[in-house]
Amino acid sequence: MRFSFYSLFAAVLILAGCSDAPHRDKTNQNAQTSTQKSELKVGQDYHSFANADEVLVRHITLDLRADFAAKQLIGTAILDIERISPNASKLVLDTRDLTIENVSSNEQALDFTLGLADAELGAPLTISLLEGVSQVKIEYATSPEASGVQWLTPLQTAGKRHPFLFTQAQAVHARSFIPLQDSPQVRVTYDATIRTPKQLLAVMSAANDPNTKRDGIYEFSMPQAIPSYLIALAIGDLEFKAMGERTGVYAEAELLDAAAKEFEDTESMLIATEQKYGPYGWDRYDLLILPPSFPFGGMENPRLSFITPTVIAGDKSLVSLIAHELAHSWSGNTVSNATWRDLWLNEGFTTYLTYRIMEMIYGTDRYNMEAVLGYQDLQADIASLPANDQIMAIDLRGRNPDDVFSNIPYEKGALFLRELEQKVGRDNFDAFLLDYFQAFSFKSITTDEFIAYLDKTLLQDYANKLSKTRIEQWIFEPGIPEGAPVPESNAFLQIDQARAGFLSAQIPAASIQTADWTVHEWLYFLNNLPEKLSEEQLQQLDSAFKLTESPNNEIAHSWLMIAVANEYKPAYDRLYEYLVSIGRNKLVKPLYKALSQTSEGKAFAKRAFEQAKPGYHPLTIRANEGFVEGLE
Ligand code: BES
Ligand code: ZN
Repeated sequence: MRFSFYSLFAAVLILAGCSDAPHRDKTNQNAQTSTQKSELKVGQDYHSFANADEVLVRHITLDLRADFAAKQLIGTAILDIERISPNASKLVLDTRDLTIENVSSNEQALDFTLGLADAELGAPLTISLLEGVSQVKIEYATSPEASGVQWLTPLQTAGKRHPFLFTQAQAVHARSFIPLQDSPQVRVTYDATIRTPKQLLAVMSAANDPNTKRDGIYEFSMPQAIPSYLIALAIGDLEFKAMGERTGVYAEAELLDAAAKEFEDTESMLIATEQKYGPYGWDRYDLLILPPSFPFGGMENPRLSFITPTVIAGDKSLVSLIAHELAHSWSGNTVSNATWRDLWLNEGFTTYLTYRIMEMIYGTDRYNMEAVLGYQDLQADIASLPANDQIMAIDLRGRNPDDVFSNIPYEKGALFLRELEQKVGRDNFDAFLLDYFQAFSFKSITTDEFIAYLDKTLLQDYANKLSKTRIEQWIFEPGIPEGAPVPESNAFLQIDQARAGFLSAQIPAASIQTADWTVHEWLYFLNNLPEKLSEEQLQQLDSAFKLTESPNNEIAHSWLMIAVANEYKPAYDRLYEYLVSIGRNKLVKPLYKALSQTSEGKAFAKRAFEQAKPGYHPLTIRANEGFVEGLE
């Protein structure tokens, strides 16, 4: 474990007399939070200091100026609060590396203290509430090192002329740019005024007006209550292009047309998803294309998904990412996980929906191929992760959710739902999902609330087909339950044959018929090669298929993994360039990890990392610095 906030956390909770989530049972909370081994309290957010059981923040009004020279957001947050417990005398907020200048209510100063900072969770800001106070104004500034904000220099953008800023709040980073109750079970509406240099445009996870005047002052309103991890802001030299009636894309001019073309099916995806799972509840659905340092593939910020440019492949081969972020509009943004233990409710449902959307738009072959690739990713994690980390409802006490990222909530979650679908029938399962999204619309729920819901729905309606024991095995036990569905793809059978022919030296690489292969077929071919290949085999593959030069970032990733495992040096220039130009953690982390296995590889990794570091997002730095440590 990298840190130990537990005792401090417990102490703060005891001192502050807080800890519980809204409407959760408070029994014996202090005893339970004081030791790691004690029973986990379902529904308790172990990653927030907020006293949301006593006072709830309902609305936030932001007025922030982006100072690119100082790398700071500076301004005010006004929090409208509601007392849950009538005698509540304080409001405890989450903060991380914020400078708090002043706290007041209607011009009257309020006492406040900033507690000791925990390395992962930041510091609780405790504000004394005078009687009758229903609004709190906080004057503050963010730190240039804020964990949830990346400030990019002009050189790190496509246009090279203007700086760029973006936030990434999930899981626990909203607190590094807004003092708030940073827990997914607290939902707020918000308004914002964002002040930027005049040439730049600001966009948020809110209503964005594509035709807004570019004057450096931008107003936003998010009228639907969302969890804090969905509050997002980006500022840059952005332009807008419509893709459909409700869909469009924001990007730098250099990428705008390519992005709009690549993602032109977004509107059809939106319509298809609505037809199955109920009306899209968020008005517009736009995409924002970020610079390549964006640490994720995508982030489902409501009304405006944030998207890595690494998926603009030219052939729509990687657009399942868009289906995924769009699907979160239902699973995640409409129904949200209540704590980070329940992340699988967001990501598992979304991954399941992604497969279904891809099938509706691109057909069953693609559905099958993507499902097999996802299943293989899951198998790899099951083979390598400790048993406790293979549990969907994972105990994250004492851990930073960022450090536990894996395919388990995604692919195991999706496979579980696929099993339910197979047992009750697809139409019945779709009807169930439609009801589920409605039943918990604009609510944050726990795994246990989901199971209780299953109890009175599917488990009753299909008592002869489903069993609660089996469902609990999926959710609370490691591994994949025996007899689980195994995704299959006919198209991949031919790839298996081609690979076997090549490996047994019966078919030279250049004679494999690859003309019709899609990106998925390539990935399946590459990902299932044996770990060790001969220099001759590597050269044959590379010269026949120009893999080192592949412009597809996923294919390049798979090939570079092979190159590292076999120390295939002709690919190392490309590897270096890949590592320094892409900041998406899912693509670079496995490469750094593989390189760190040998001292020569580690030295190479360190060179790349040091060069790339100024451009990497804090999250990517943190996830990879361990792999290059210990070298001069
Ligand atoms: N919400 C996630 C990203 C995330 C998860 C950020 C947990 C922080 C903590 C997003 O929707 C996501 O899943 N992105 C994936 C997309 C992929 C599975 C298609 C990514 O970035 O790789
Ligand atoms: Zn997701």
